[in-house]
Amino acid sequence: MRIDILTVLPELLEGPFSHSILKRAQEKNLAEIHIHNIRDYSKDKHKKVDDYQYGGGAGMVMTIQPIADCIDALKAARNYDEIIYMTPDGELFEQNTANQLSSYENLIILCGHYKGVDERVRELYITKEISIGSYVLTGGELAAAVVADAVIRLIPGVLNDETSALSDSFQDDLLSPPVYTRPADYKGLKVPEVLLSGDFKKIDEYRETEAYRRTEERRPDLLK
Ligand code: ADE
Repeated sequence: MRIDILTVLPELLEGPFSHSILKRAQEKNLAEIHIHNIRDYSKDKHKKVDDYQYGGGAGMVMTIQPIADCIDALKAARNYDEIIYMTPDGELFEQNTANQLSSYENLIILCGHYKGVDERVRELYITKEISIGSYVLTGGELAAAVVADAVIRLIPGVLNDETSALSDSFQDDLLSPPVYTRPADYKGLKVPEVLLSGDFKKIDEYRETEAYRRTEERRPDLLK
């Protein structure tokens, strides 16, 4: 999978893709991340990427020209499955969207800034608008990193343990059961006996019961 991220703050996106699992996914050629500085495409003599909004009002708006030129250049080179705009008024990002996106070959993610992008960018280019939650961030970069992380880890081969993405919280509309590691007794707090029993049928039953109990307690909306 190839993901092209368009941003006015490329530095903000360098960290998340340079470590651990996301770094390894790129080294194994399972994911390609290309970060594009929208400013590089500006035809303005001062490399401006924003302007005052028509009709007045506080806050700048990202102009269409540099974004359009960047997306046009990318689209001339390959077909994209989705052109995503990160915005607080988009559809709420959930596991099923991550699952769907992980099956695609090429994605563009546009990060908004200031008051957002000129509406005509959305009309002309954007095929999907995503919000990562009902709050406003300073820009779409952290949201884009969240989406890319959730998607890339689902690509087969990215996680070492093939089954572990499938047993995540949310994959079957259940939260994950509690997990424990050594020591078996920490200051009198003991690991549930069944997990030490070696009886895998009982362990599976325990995990299923705990997953339901946890979901009922914390996210009853998932069981409806
Ligand atoms: N940009 C600013 N806030 C955002 C949010 N909650 N989700 C996606 N993009 C955003």
